[in-house]
Amino acid sequence: MLRVPDLTKQQRRSRLEARLLESGAESSHEAWGERKHGVIGAMRGTVVELGPGTGVNMRYYAPGTKVIAVEPNPVMHPPLQSAAEKHGVDLEIRQLDGAAVDVVDESVDGVVGTLLLCGVDDPGRVLHEAHRILKPGGTYFFIEHVASRARTANRRVQRVLFRPHRWLFNGCEITRDTAETIRRSPFESVDIDEVDRGRPALWVRHQIAGTATKAAQ
Ligand SMILES: C[S@@+](CC[C@H](N)C(=O)[O-])C[C@H]1O[C@@H](n2cnc3c(N)ncnc32)[C@H](O)[C@@H]1O
Repeated sequence: MLRVPDLTKQQRRSRLEARLLESGAESSHEAWGERKHGVIGAMRGTVVELGPGTGVNMRYYAPGTKVIAVEPNPVMHPPLQSAAEKHGVDLEIRQLDGAAVDVVDESVDGVVGTLLLCGVDDPGRVLHEAHRILKPGGTYFFIEHVASRARTANRRVQRVLFRPHRWLFNGCEITRDTAETIRRSPFESVDIDEVDRGRPALWVRHQIAGTATKAAQ
């Protein structure tokens, strides 16, 4: 007899989110692959990735890198594990909130968060945690979509699509000023590039990428 899984609405939505993340992986790779290869691929030692989702960044780690994946949504865990195995990443998944990570102070070499701060309740708190767990001189690498400039056509599009996008992507908000949040975080040095990914990305076309570095002692 065919067994119909008893999925809650939340689980169904999470599965849809996982499929959308995987289907967007190639266009994200076209836009950001080179930079991710450069920064993520250079990370050594132990790295914490916050909100890795289905594991779109696993392809960029050097094989054998130890990655602690802080991913609260268990629906993401099987594809994340498969991606890590495919790319030879030494993965440990922890089902936690990035705002309260059970990693000791100043113990990791790098932290990665891509398309993360748009969907967490308290982005400032998550950045505080990233800073806390990094060794002195360590780097937080980020890519985020951000609010388009006020009073532009694109900002109007974002306003219209704000609620459906937030529903589809489990609370992700497309009008956050994440660059400002990162600049106000405890990181001592911040480099941010602003990129317009153009019309195909429409309501998430304005993105930022960069690194935030903890002072060396
Ligand atoms: C839009 S997805 C991005 C996934 C992946 N990083 C990427 O670049 O495609 C956001 C991910 O962050 C996770 N997430 C949401 N809230 C979180 C939190 N408080 N702490 C850590 N991860 C969180 C979600 O479960 C989801 O997997």
